[in-house]
Amino acid sequence: MPLPEPGPGEVLVRNRHFGVVSGLRTLLGGRETTSSFPSIRPGDPLFGAAVGEVVAAPDGGRFRPGDAVVHPFGWREYAAVAETHCVPVHPRLPDAAAHLAPSSPAYGALTRLAAVREGDTVLVTGATGGVGSLAGQVARLLGAGRVLGTTRSAHKAVRLTRELGYDAVLVPGEAPLSEQLAEAAPDGLDVVLDLVGGEQLRAAVDAAAPGARIALVGSLAGQLDPRHDGSASPAEIDTFRMITLGVTMSGYRYPDHLDVEAEWTDRFAQWLSTGRINFPQVRVPGIEGAPRALKEMMAGRHLGTVIVDLTG
Ligand SMILES: NC(=O)c1ccc[n+]([C@@H]2O[C@H](COP(=O)([O-])OP(=O)(O)OC[C@H]3O[C@@H](n4cnc5c(N)ncnc54)[C@H](OP(=O)(O)O)[C@@H]3O)[C@@H](O)[C@H]2O)c1
Repeated sequence: MPLPEPGPGEVLVRNRHFGVVSGLRTLLGGRETTSSFPSIRPGDPLFGAAVGEVVAAPDGGRFRPGDAVVHPFGWREYAAVAETHCVPVHPRLPDAAAHLAPSSPAYGALTRLAAVREGDTVLVTGATGGVGSLAGQVARLLGAGRVLGTTRSAHKAVRLTRELGYDAVLVPGEAPLSEQLAEAAPDGLDVVLDLVGGEQLRAAVDAAAPGARIALVGSLAGQLDPRHDGSASPAEIDTFRMITLGVTMSGYRYPDHLDVEAEWTDRFAQWLSTGRINFPQVRVPGIEGAPRALKEMMAGRHLGTVIVDLTG
């Protein structure tokens, strides 16, 4: 295709890296109406967070050629982007691609909705994805005493405990989740960061401690179920138990917490540069590898953030 022509107030960015996220499945399903993102129709380009270098910029604008920026138009090698959609790369991030870690919602939920306290027992469902692979480490850095996660893969469960500091990892299918939770958290869960919904959310409610805070951030069970279009994630939960134990449950919506992104990026940069957090990621070379990366991610083949690398 010809290079896009930047219009007034736009810069031309050569993308270096972009992220591949499961939320695309919902947008591709075309049935979701409550998200802040538009559905993707046949013929539309996919999109998602990207980091790149400005190669052309209007005189007197905010950016100059050579500037490194973050913007929402991944899935292409060059993008004409409104300056208002570009943010300069954080100067203290050891690697600009760390902007593609989709974990600011986990940080926002653990600090705003579920407010982790010193010594809390925290469960992260969907712990191997881009969000979950950082969420457990963030919970620990915020003071959690015991951090538990879930994955459907025994192999990835081992990596979560060895590489990412999870104290115990539950694998649905190996034994009833209720039994695994009773063993891993005998005093119950204080905080749940739920990225999955469905049966995993049901089991988490059943294991909640008095006063537990449940933050709903993702719905992978509904989103990636090949039998459905990804627009709904029904779950049956014991509301009686929630009432009698005073359990709260709230959904995390990015637009309600616009202050979180900058705070998260500052802290992530500090944690990365001092070696206190591990950023698990899978790099896929070349734009031609991106469709395969999306399919593999949805099939659960990867651990961490999936990043397409256009630098080769
Ligand atoms: N609220 C917000 O602002 C916000 C922002 C960002 C993301 N999110 C949401 O947060 C969730 C996690 O995002 P992410 O980027 O971490 O996802 P991700 O990286 O795409 O997660 C992929 C993982 O999902 C798991 N998975 C796949 N199918 C599943 C199923 N049917 N049931 C349960 N798990 C399944 C697999 O893990 P295993 O094979 O290890 O089980 C797979 O490795 C998504 O629902 C996303 O849309 C919300």
